[in-house]
Amino acid sequence: MTRFNLDGVRAHFPAFSEPALQGQAFFENAGGSYACAPVIDRLTRFYRQRKVQPCAPYAASQLACAEMAEARSRLAAMLGVETDELSFGPSTTNNTYVLAQAFGELLEPGDTIIVTDQDHEANSGPWRRLAARGIGIREWQMDPVTGHLDTEQLWALLDDTVRLVCFPHCSNVVGEINPVADICTRLRAAGIWSCVDGVSAAPHGLPDVDALCADIYLFSAYKTYGPHQGLMVIRHALASRLPNQGHAFNAAVPWKRFTPAGPDHAQVAACAGMADYIDALHALHVDDSAASAKTRAQRVHDLMRDHESALLQPLLDALRGRDDLRLLGPADPARRVPTVALVHARPGLDLATALAPFGIMAGGGSFYADRALQRLGIDPQHGVLRLSFVHYTSPTEIDQLLAALDQVL
Ligand SMILES: Cc1ncc(COP(=O)(O)O)c(C=O)c1O
Repeated sequence: MTRFNLDGVRAHFPAFSEPALQGQAFFENAGGSYACAPVIDRLTRFYRQRKVQPCAPYAASQLACAEMAEARSRLAAMLGVETDELSFGPSTTNNTYVLAQAFGELLEPGDTIIVTDQDHEANSGPWRRLAARGIGIREWQMDPVTGHLDTEQLWALLDDTVRLVCFPHCSNVVGEINPVADICTRLRAAGIWSCVDGVSAAPHGLPDVDALCADIYLFSAYKTYGPHQGLMVIRHALASRLPNQGHAFNAAVPWKRFTPAGPDHAQVAACAGMADYIDALHALHVDDSAASAKTRAQRVHDLMRDHESALLQPLLDALRGRDDLRLLGPADPARRVPTVALVHARPGLDLATALAPFGIMAGGGSFYADRALQRLGIDPQHGVLRLSFVHYTSPTEIDQLLAALDQVL
């Protein structure tokens, strides 16, 4: 593999050549990333040329239908799952509400679901609501100082009533990467299903969901260089057990069973641009066009992680050296994603506002991780400053951030 080609990477994002964004360094990627050119191009083409009811017997409709199918098959292959194990919904939150409804119909009073206090509310609240149906809810809690989720504590919560464990691949405020494969492998061996929120992890490289052993894996395309969609992998063995949540006559179509609303055709089709982008990054760095889709995605994952970790180290070092703030999550880049939350005497939103004149686009608040902040002793109203970046971020932008933080903190 060659050196990370940052210029080549950034050339795929129109935002970087957009005059209105010159001088602006983007550090709210965990809220939603820039969209890559292949996604924007496909979305535009769809609206101009294919915006008809898909899968009817006329040419424009056939093209629309094929492009939607292409998005599903190519991304599924990159994720290491079967094409019909991947479906698209309006958002991850919407997807978890539908899944919770399905589990509510499947499970019996007395069954137990384990949730965490590290999750974004999307993978927490919908499950907790099942308590109203007599389903037991147990909370796997973080260490209140470090935010770490200790697997020993999860094992201690398991018993014969536990049917499902819902937890994040990594939290959107703590940033620590949880050992998903270890957890899900052990759960599967015990006959317990897993639902992993990968929204904060997937932008840093698509996972091999098969290797992770997760029964459900969720992430959001709009944070992963794509359009505003929620992607949901549900493995066959579980999907066939869960009651259909779509129209009755669609019950036999696996990828229609958990997306009751009519899909956003254009955005689903545009998700194929995410696969184009990963393939383009692979071609930019590796001379191996015969590699499988999963291999290409894994190589791109590793390239992204290496570049991000190299940029994260100086930021963590600078922040760790200060005694006026609390840095959430591990100080070792290898154990976390570059989503860095800081607690300071000033509220998170105030700090983000103060950074804006320095050309820093950052966010402040609780980021729907109120339970996590409360567990860590942080008032969600006070909130954190969150600095999140991805593989397209440059060393110059990190320098701009460090200089701005020096002025503001
Ligand atoms: C970790 C995490 N999970 C879930 C979600 C919810 O995703 P969506 O906006 O697609 O519902 C978010 C959104 O911020 C998130 O950061």
